[in-house]
Amino acid sequence: MDFKSVGIKGLGYYVPEKVMTNFDFEKLIDTSDEWIRTRTGIEERRFAAPDQATSDLCVEASKKALENANMTIDDIDLILIATCTPDYPVQAAACLVQKKLGAKQTPCFDLNAACSGFIYGLTVAGGMIRGGVYKNILVVGAETLSRIIDMEDRNTCVLFGDGAAAAVVSEVEEGYGFLGVYLGAEGEDDDILKIPAGGTKKPNTVETIENRENFVHMKGKDVFKFAVHALPRATNKAMKIAGVTSDELKMVFPHQANIRIIEAAAKRIHAPIEKFYVNLQRFGNTSSASVGIALGEALEKGKLKKGDLIALTGFGAGLTYGSIVMKWVY
Ligand code: ACO
Repeated sequence: MDFKSVGIKGLGYYVPEKVMTNFDFEKLIDTSDEWIRTRTGIEERRFAAPDQATSDLCVEASKKALENANMTIDDIDLILIATCTPDYPVQAAACLVQKKLGAKQTPCFDLNAACSGFIYGLTVAGGMIRGGVYKNILVVGAETLSRIIDMEDRNTCVLFGDGAAAAVVSEVEEGYGFLGVYLGAEGEDDDILKIPAGGTKKPNTVETIENRENFVHMKGKDVFKFAVHALPRATNKAMKIAGVTSDELKMVFPHQANIRIIEAAAKRIHAPIEKFYVNLQRFGNTSSASVGIALGEALEKGKLKKGDLIALTGFGAGLTYGSIVMKWVY
């Protein structure tokens, strides 16, 4: 059976204007620029303005992706937002994006795979297009993590930033686009990274708020251990499915959580660190937006051209992980 070739026809990203530097955190909590830089590589990140929520970041990134794909919102058959920070707990951010972009009747849904969300979203969209369900799907990875981090918890608050990246996924020239896709999850590790309260298991009460259980809680070392095996595992599997070796990859776009995780993964993928696009120093960890923002920046800088073989690879809460090897389309 012949499968359609599916890939990204247009990409755009958006980060809010407000810059939070490590020095800004020095004024708020017991931390230092030196600690944050040496342990993570992060120097600054962007925080959304008070009147911006996740759907607003999505809209900005989507407009650019549509423009780059030479399409309008009327060409889009489905809006899929990958996020773990929707505007509201109930009502998909995708529906708000539909309204703000002026789309009528377009189906919409959100997907939560945390930081692997962009890769999960592209995979779902790719499958739907291959199956002939839709022609053009708008996939957005977007987060307003500044609203769910505890600004009194130095273990977590310095790591995250806000942003969005959007991709128009469509049928593409034969042999281009997604060549190998691999997704995974380890649900048994359910206490490593989560917001303990505010869901159906433990609705928020005065007590949960006082205990700050409405914010992200993370066992950093456990996430680190997971990440350094999950990233290479996903990338190596996707390369194998694509029939591609790490030597053939022009670039790798990893989830931008921590430079030490990326360095460890590079060794296990047997690819030089120079092939890994890194911008976490300026944006921190933007969860489901990070891989797309990195891709968007590389495109803007002219670092990618048609036919380049690249890998996207990520991990996140859940715990989830995934990778897509693709031949760049434009
Ligand atoms: N400033 C100063 N000191 C700090 C800070 C801070 N911001 N944060 C922690 N410390 C302290 C700790 O309290 C600890 O002090 P102690 O020894 O007195 O208890 C000390 O620094 C060392 O802490 P460690 O946790 O051992 O530091 P480590 O080298 O493991 O780095 C880090 C911590 C950066 C969180 C690392 O474990 C990491 O990056 N883990 C992965 C996190 C991640 O990627 N999360 C998100 C992925 S999924 C997603 O994106 C949703």
